[in-house]
Amino acid sequence: HIATTTAVALVCAVSLATAEDLREQALEVFRPLPSTIPAVKDNRITTEKIELGKALFFDPRLSASGVFSCNSCHNLATGGDDNLETSIGHGWQRGPRNAPTVLNAVLNEAQFWDGRAEDLKAQAKGPVQASVEMANTPDQVVATLKSMPLYVAWFEAAFPDEDDPVTFDNMAKAIEAFEATLITPAPFDAYLNGDDAALTDLEKRGLALFMDKGCAACHSGVNVGGHGYYPFGLIEKPGADILPENDRGRFEVTKTVDDSYVFRASPLRNIAVTAPYFHSGRVWDLGVAVAIMGTAQLGEELDDEEVEAIVAFLGSLTGTMPAIAYPVLPPETATTPRPRA
Ligand code: HEM
Ligand code: HEM
Repeated sequence: HIATTTAVALVCAVSLATAEDLREQALEVFRPLPSTIPAVKDNRITTEKIELGKALFFDPRLSASGVFSCNSCHNLATGGDDNLETSIGHGWQRGPRNAPTVLNAVLNEAQFWDGRAEDLKAQAKGPVQASVEMANTPDQVVATLKSMPLYVAWFEAAFPDEDDPVTFDNMAKAIEAFEATLITPAPFDAYLNGDDAALTDLEKRGLALFMDKGCAACHSGVNVGGHGYYPFGLIEKPGADILPENDRGRFEVTKTVDDSYVFRASPLRNIAVTAPYFHSGRVWDLGVAVAIMGTAQLGEELDDEEVEAIVAFLGSLTGTMPAIAYPVLPPETATTPRPRA
């Protein structure tokens, strides 16, 4: 009897030790989300800026056609993305890449699949002007915003020390401030913060596999990715159906041959709700995406049971969505530029 008790105690001690080890190992690789709004470079975050940025994020009048807002492609009701292979923008044109989520994007070290924008305020100026997205010009956007007295008042409140606060740069800063609020605490954060019950056994097994197999070598840190660049197909290049030949990723940014087909290791928070996957958006099933990563990045055929566990772990990265009251936008006036085709 004593022997059995000792054995049981030993087994318990062992499993307790491994439970602690797993968290310790995880804390070396990942970090829980901050509990307050993260600070951003050169942009003090205030309530006025956040509220203005929220209005701008939802305002389709930032686009030439008056049809597309940031929320069209980064729909905060559906995980901060559009759930399309590649986005549809101005004039029903299809863009070349899948829209990543804006949720937690403030925590990425650089923005876009190829990291070509340094931060969110640099990023926000891109889509407004991109011909396949909102197809507008900075002058036209400023004219639109200045035509509405309520927007002028909101810019004055958000940028109180400036003589001429309604500028394209300040539009981007306000949007960045709003985006900084879009962080989504998940069961994985509760686990990292010490709550063992926050993850199921299967999710824990997936976490262990994610680290042991080497996924965490590229997808690490607070956003479980979102920093570091690697060839998609480091070990084995996926077929052109998944990795289209015409998009060479960071090569277009650096013009260095070594950067052909190099992309940012994707941030994986909320990945379970942001299908389809990869910059091409060609894969709809998360298990298939995980298996492709195994062969393409690690040279490893993951078996069904391993894929299932990793998918379960990735599900624990789905967070509580920010509660957002749909904003009422300033009404246009006689001088507001009209929508253009
Ligand atoms: C990328 C925000 C408008 C489609 C991004 C990213 C952010 C963002 C933060 C980078 C996310 C990351 O790298 O993880 C915004 C804001 C917008 C806006 C603030 C409004 C000013 C749009 C619109 C569309 C769109 C209207 C679709 C027509 C995309 C696509 C990417 C992207 C396809 C990936 C592009 C690439 O990597 O080359 N957006 N977005 N966005 N957005 Fe938007
Ligand atoms: C993309 C998971 C290993 C680098 C992705 C995506 C998932 C994922 C689900 C799609 C993200 C999205 O569509 O938003 C995994 C898992 C791994 C693993 C489960 C281990 C089995 C790695 C490794 C590297 C890496 C080891 C670096 C050598 C990348 C890159 C992308 C990506 C560069 C973007 C690919 C693209 O351009 O579409 N990963 N990953 N991953 N991962 Fe991994």
